[in-house]
Amino acid sequence: MKKIEDFPRIPLAVLPTPIQKLENISRILGTNVYIKRDDMTGIGLGGNKVRKLEFLLADAKNKGAEIVFTTGGAQSNHAMLTAACCKKLSMTPILILKKRGVTDRKGNILLEYLMNTDVRFLDTDDSADVYREMDRVGQESGKVYYKIPTGGSNAIGALGYVNCVKEITEQTDIKFDYICCAEGSGGTHAGVALGAKLFMPDTRVIGLMVDTDPFEEITTNIMKDLAAMLELDLVPTVDDVHLKNVAGPGYAIPSPEGNEAIRMMAENEGLFLDPVYTGKAFGGLIQMAREGKFGPDDNILYLYSGGAGGLFAIDVNLD
Ligand SMILES: Cc1ncc(COP(=O)(O)O)c(C=O)c1O
Repeated sequence: MKKIEDFPRIPLAVLPTPIQKLENISRILGTNVYIKRDDMTGIGLGGNKVRKLEFLLADAKNKGAEIVFTTGGAQSNHAMLTAACCKKLSMTPILILKKRGVTDRKGNILLEYLMNTDVRFLDTDDSADVYREMDRVGQESGKVYYKIPTGGSNAIGALGYVNCVKEITEQTDIKFDYICCAEGSGGTHAGVALGAKLFMPDTRVIGLMVDTDPFEEITTNIMKDLAAMLELDLVPTVDDVHLKNVAGPGYAIPSPEGNEAIRMMAENEGLFLDPVYTGKAFGGLIQMAREGKFGPDDNILYLYSGGAGGLFAIDVNLD
């Protein structure tokens, strides 16, 4: 078995991120809700992608890359954080974004503009077109380039979340019955679920799906790749993957449950969830609590994965 420390990593995040109890929301929901502050990873506006980028950009550097490509929707938090981390490491980010969502200079696009980032939109929904465009631009540059997939969701990126689970066990004695996280491209959930298998075998991990991709298969595959990369004696299966669909009317379209969660968190805890990922995911947690899934003595850890940029791009109407 390999250790996480055996893999190249560039420290970018401020770790460990705090774990806090949401006292008011715990009272409202009748269970113990804690929050892992991965919105405070310390670069850009914080967020889950920084943990992935520590491993992905180390791999890119080791391969001699000067240019780093990535992709996502127009308001991708991952793309913005890739740009921020690359700028910090003096690498050149080029974002080839799908023309999907708010493309005006708002939210993450504004932040990319502030960082003087090369952002290009491609009018396609097919990822193959995007990766072809990356190769075309990369080859034309004559430089070594590195392609990071949507959301940084491959085994190398997901290592960041295996590491996050290890971090949780080292920072607190609280035994979490559940860890809940937003799921947009699968890497965070896969890393946490594999990390839980290794370090917290009694904890159930739930991915709250904000999109309609086949996440059972996607998450299992990333977990399998992780297990192989770490040379583990186990082969993850679909039985290790627990999901709940919270996409509502569709990806990046606010849902009533997500909006209620944004209001509940802001009004009771002074924290700001976003309409695309963390609001909908927390909305799913609220729903599970109301359905009686969690007991009064259960400890639930909500992975607050950032995403504040989206709050300033998308119209959130709570009325
Ligand atoms: C704020 C935020 N939370 C959660 C996620 C979901 O993480 P993952 O893409 O690893 O499934 C994303 C990205 O998709 C995100 O930007």
